[in-house]
Amino acid sequence: MKPLNIGMIGYGLMGRAHTNAFRQVSQFFPLAHKPVLKAICGRDGVKAAAFAANWGYESVETDWRALIARPDIDLIDIAATNNVHAEIAIAAAKAGKLVMCEKPLGMNPAESLKMVAAVEKAKVPNMVWYNYRRAPAVTLAKMLIDEGKLGKIFHYRAKFLQDWTINADVPQGGPGTWRLDASVAGSGVTGDLLAHCIDTAMWLNGSIDTVTGMTETFVKERKHALTGKKQKVGIDDASAFLARFSNGSLATFEATRYARGHKALYTFEINGEHASIFWDLHDLHRLQWFDHRDASVVRGWRSIHVSDGDQPYMKNWWIPGVQIGFEHTFTHQVADFIAGIESGQPAAPTFRDGLATDYVTDAVLKSAKSGRWTKVKKA
Ligand SMILES: NC(=O)c1ccc[n+]([C@@H]2O[C@H](COP(=O)([O-])OP(=O)(O)OC[C@H]3O[C@@H](n4cnc5c(N)ncnc54)[C@H](O)[C@@H]3O)[C@@H](O)[C@H]2O)c1
Repeated sequence: MKPLNIGMIGYGLMGRAHTNAFRQVSQFFPLAHKPVLKAICGRDGVKAAAFAANWGYESVETDWRALIARPDIDLIDIAATNNVHAEIAIAAAKAGKLVMCEKPLGMNPAESLKMVAAVEKAKVPNMVWYNYRRAPAVTLAKMLIDEGKLGKIFHYRAKFLQDWTINADVPQGGPGTWRLDASVAGSGVTGDLLAHCIDTAMWLNGSIDTVTGMTETFVKERKHALTGKKQKVGIDDASAFLARFSNGSLATFEATRYARGHKALYTFEINGEHASIFWDLHDLHRLQWFDHRDASVVRGWRSIHVSDGDQPYMKNWWIPGVQIGFEHTFTHQVADFIAGIESGQPAAPTFRDGLATDYVTDAVLKSAKSGRWTKVKKA
């Protein structure tokens, strides 16, 4: 097998998820390239070295510029906070590296557009980590829709609910709470949570034309973890919007970090002429399916346990009836990315697809300010 030398930036939650995926992909998927954990990059050298020892990275860098300058690195993987995605991705593309970047692609569409220009000019393979496309049940939903099994689609309904910022004492900024600091996160739940819902929605149901949104910041001031000072909160705590898809279907989207009792309740439901689909991240290996064409005496919602060898990705894992989970969505993404490089047919979502999502979140935030329906730019 040919080595694919990985340089990873960021050793937090996603640093672990991606590293785990790079480590296991060759054992489960037949690929010509095998990821090699060449270097982990983090600003704290001691913590980065501990991460390297735990996960098996060969070396440590404390400056991402030094990592990108290394000739022994093929792929730069950006698992760092949103505020550094653009600068790193553009530099990596200029250096001719393959680039994988966490979501949202940029802090705003202006940044994302520059990132798209950089990877397309350099002609380097690129991908954004919208991993939920590759939960086998979600991929199965895509197959059923593409086969026309739902018929004309009328409704798309998505939500992503959490409850971890209700306490007004939760600070903004710093490790663990950078998502509450607009200068690091870009936006609140719109870019963080709704971006996932939007990526999946456009993959399953096509592009979004117009949106009208509302946002709220329930806690207006929070102490900044780095300065110790109380500061105005610049992110949206909750966000909801209506949308019209290009195919004529209507949609509702909602995300919040104030839904007591919910930790990561990402769900979507799609209602078509013949059938409906429902998926829930808390039960991610199941697809709920209702088919009006079934005989009336047995017609009802089916709960499909997606674990059979003829269902997406499952033949690469264990035996029918035995499920997989969250971590495997990342492994599938790496497998498809590498397969795309080998076949010359790039896997999605590319940076351009990530830009399309950023255009929607931007339109939602603009609409929430203006109170008007807002047209979504096309990427
Ligand atoms: N796809 C998903 O399901 C998913 C889930 C969570 C987070 N994310 C995204 O992943 C990214 C990271 O989120 P996380 O939850 O892992 O955050 P985290 O706080 O756990 O980790 C962020 C890491 O970035 C590092 N970092 C920040 N600036 C850096 C710099 N200049 N140089 C090197 N390292 C730097 C931090 O030190 C830390 O290791 C974000 O863009 C986030 O939106 C995606």
